[in-house]
Amino acid sequence: MAYNDPNEYYRRNRNETRSYFIDFLLQIIPKKEMSTYNVAELGVGNGANMFLLANYTRFCHGFEASDEACKDIQRQIDIHPHREKLKIENVRLPHRLNNPVRYDILIYGFMGYLLSDDELEKQKSYSLEVLNGTGSYIYIFDFISREKKSRTEEGVSKRTLQFWLEHFSELDLLNFQLFDDCRDNKLIDDLTVVNTNLTSDDNRWMFAALFRKMDKR
Ligand SMILES: C[S@@+](CC[C@H](N)C(=O)[O-])C[C@H]1O[C@@H](n2cnc3c(N)ncnc32)[C@H](O)[C@@H]1O
Repeated sequence: MAYNDPNEYYRRNRNETRSYFIDFLLQIIPKKEMSTYNVAELGVGNGANMFLLANYTRFCHGFEASDEACKDIQRQIDIHPHREKLKIENVRLPHRLNNPVRYDILIYGFMGYLLSDDELEKQKSYSLEVLNGTGSYIYIFDFISREKKSRTEEGVSKRTLQFWLEHFSELDLLNFQLFDDCRDNKLIDDLTVVNTNLTSDDNRWMFAALFRKMDKR
């Protein structure tokens, strides 16, 4: 399976619905606040998350390596009622997000696992450049491993919570939730219920974490 070919990923998953993790974010951030936010998602896939977010945010910007995905998303944007606040850019991360917009929330949605530690580090410096000051957020959802980091031959990295805490050490962890397989586990359909029924096998564990930029100290 070509994990590093974005077009292949897109062809396999073009019909996926939006991720649960976006619903979770919408539950955490009050709607009035959200309506003032510029949001960007890194690695948008078919754009389902960003199209949902556009209903709640001031501006929603997607960055994606698959040119096929970007073309399809652009076609949808062109006829979308919220087209003024939607934008898609075809880039391969790590990438400097150099436009005049500053973001209140940057989303790493099942994106981190596709980047190496070095790429992730580079992207973090680019991401921090475009965050909109104190109080803005990085929201990440990804695979998680309990004890040690791993990287498969296909280039899939699973990292520990400790890794992410250190990686985003400039930020403060505001909210963390562990999930047991976001597609099949009925328990997490109700996101207000903490999933206490996690399997002992963390192979399919996933997490969502909301980090907030702190005051300079
Ligand atoms: C697992 S999908 C996640 C899609 C969406 N964020 C979600 O939560 O459903 C990862 C996406 O990142 C894209 N991608 C992979 N490597 C990338 C890179 N280096 N730069 C930008 N996008 C990348 C893939 O094409 C794919 O659309």
